[in-house]
Amino acid sequence: MLSQAAQSIQDAALAAVADAADGEALSVVDREFLGKGGQVGLLLASIKDAEPADRPRIGQEANALKQAIGAAISERREALSGEALAAERRADDFDPTLPAAPLTRGSIHPVTQVTRELEDIFTSMGYAILDGPEVELDYYNFEALNIPKDHPAREMYDTFWCDADMNLLLRTHTSPVQIRALETLDPPFRAIVPGRCFRNETTDASHEHTFHQMEGLVVGEGITVGHLIGAMKTFLRELFQRDLDVRLRPGYFPFVEPGFEFDIRCPFCADGCRVCKKTTWVEFCGCGMVHPNVLRAGKIDPERYTGFAFGFGLDRLVMLRHGIDDIRHFMGGDLRFLEQF
Ligand code: FA5
Repeated sequence: MLSQAAQSIQDAALAAVADAADGEALSVVDREFLGKGGQVGLLLASIKDAEPADRPRIGQEANALKQAIGAAISERREALSGEALAAERRADDFDPTLPAAPLTRGSIHPVTQVTRELEDIFTSMGYAILDGPEVELDYYNFEALNIPKDHPAREMYDTFWCDADMNLLLRTHTSPVQIRALETLDPPFRAIVPGRCFRNETTDASHEHTFHQMEGLVVGEGITVGHLIGAMKTFLRELFQRDLDVRLRPGYFPFVEPGFEFDIRCPFCADGCRVCKKTTWVEFCGCGMVHPNVLRAGKIDPERYTGFAFGFGLDRLVMLRHGIDDIRHFMGGDLRFLEQF
C-alpha cells in the first residue's frame, strides 16, 4: 500500500500519461514526474526531513513510483508510435474505388511481325531458320562469296569496317550465312536467314544504315531455276494470299550464276500506282543459282550439288505492305508510328 501522498503522485502521473497525445507530451510528463526536481524527486528529497522511522518506506515508495511511472511512459510511447504508423498507413491507403492506372501495352515492331510471319511460311515449306553473326569476317561477307579484295562488286556494299586491317566488318547482307550453312549442313537442305544488316550509306526514304534482310538457300542434287521460281511463288501466295505474276530479269551478284532480279506484279493495282511507280511491277529480291565457287568455299562438290539463293529486304517489304513512305520511321523511335501496328 502506498501512502496517500505517493498514491496521489502515481494517480496524477498515470492520468497524465494516458492523456499524452504524442511523444512530445509524454516527454513533458516524464520531466514533470521523473526528471530532476520532478514530483518523485521531491518525494525522495523529503527523506531528509522525515522521521528516521519513515525514511525506508519513503525510499521504497519513491522507487516503486519511478518504476510504475517509467513503465507506463514506455508503454504509452510504444502505443503512440504504433498509432502514428497506423495513421500514416491510413493516409496513403489504397483506395479501391479509384479507377486503375491505365496499362500501356507495347506492340510488336512491324519488321518483327513480318519476320515471324515469313518464318512460319518457310518452316511450313520445310525450311530451317538459321542465324549468323552481325559482326562478320571479310572472308564470309565477301571473299568466300566470290568477291575477292579487288573486286569492283565491293563498291555495291558500302561497308562499316570494324578494324584498321579491314578484316572485321558489320555484315552488309545476310549472304555470309550461306557460307556458314554450306560449311556446317549436309545437303540436301533448305534454310532461311532473317537478320540485321548494315551499310555505310547516306540515308533517305528508302535507304537506312541498319536494315533487315531475309536470305534463302536451298542446296541438293538437281536443283534448278524452276525450283527457285516455284519456291518463290509458293511463299508469295502464302504472304499475299493470292497468286501473283512474277518475272525474272538478269541481275548481277557475284555469288550466283545465273543471277536475277525477281519482280512481282504490283499487289495494289492493275494499271499502275504510286507503289509500283506506274509500272505494275515491283522489284522484290535478288536471287540466282549458287555459284560453283561459293559451293566450293563451303566444301560442297559443285559437280554433284546445285542450289539456289535469294535475298530480300524485310523493311522494304513492310513498307510495300503498309504503304509506308519512309524507311526511317522504323528506327526513329516515334511511338505514334509504332503503336499503329
Ligand atoms: C543483296 O544484298 C544480296 N545479298 C541479295 C542476294 C542474295 C542476291 C542471294 C542473290 C542471292 P541487294 O544489295 O540488292 O542484294 O540487297 C537486297 C535487298 O536488301 C534490297 O532489295 C533491299 O530491299 C534491301 N536493302 C539493301 N540496302 C538497303 C538499305 N540501305 N536500306 C534498306 N534496305 C536495303
